[in-house]
Amino acid sequence: MHPLIHFESIDSTNEYLKREYPCLEDQTVVVADHQTKGKGRRGRSWTDDSKSLVFSLLLKKDINSERIDLLPLLSGIAISQMLDDLDIPSLIKWPNDVLIQEKKCSGILLEAVTEESIKAVIIGIGINLNDQEFPSDIREKAISLAMASKREYDSKRILTLFLNRFDALYSMYQNKDDSYLDILRKRSYLTGKKVRLDYYGENIEATVIDILANGHLLLNDGKKDIEVNAGEVSLQTSYGM
Ligand code: BTN
Repeated sequence: MHPLIHFESIDSTNEYLKREYPCLEDQTVVVADHQTKGKGRRGRSWTDDSKSLVFSLLLKKDINSERIDLLPLLSGIAISQMLDDLDIPSLIKWPNDVLIQEKKCSGILLEAVTEESIKAVIIGIGINLNDQEFPSDIREKAISLAMASKREYDSKRILTLFLNRFDALYSMYQNKDDSYLDILRKRSYLTGKKVRLDYYGENIEATVIDILANGHLLLNDGKKDIEVNAGEVSLQTSYGM
């Protein structure tokens, strides 16, 4: 069971949980109709448009800092499986985007609250649900579930489907059964692709080989294997996503 908090408007569901987590139960979900300061990865903003589902999930119990890198991957798999439930095929772009028809329909922003040890992990998710178009700067890269399927979606139903999928994967994760990563390997958008990456100040080109058991990405630059975690690299594909 997930305690649910709903806001018509809030700055950011992630920021709300970062402020309030000491008083909230493990597994609380915060959902908002609008965010005034929605955040994306790498300091970007997440556009508010009322047609998307935006929510954050709080994890407080049994946080294992060595296994945190797996959580965005697990969340991406849960979103992709939720799309299976709707008969919408999807791929997962390591580490935290879900793509339909090679365009982004969902992004994940994981944040940890650390005071000596990790006190809380916040998984923030935005899913483009009923958008019929996007601003010109992202039009070529973004898609909604409605655009993909010509149907309208109820955000409560989508959230429930997601949480059912997430709960099943998270109980595997808690039991240290990471076999769900095989689902990601089968649906990995990047595997086999050439990417450019900023790796410790150097811009290099490498081919994506696999996703490792620790959730890191394995690449090869023609001379050597390179293992990177999500925080270490910024990847550019030919699509610029
Ligand atoms: C990304 O693709 O860059 C990640 C986007 C994450 C957006 C979600 S929306 C709900 C939660 N609250 C935020 O401020 N951000 C995340």
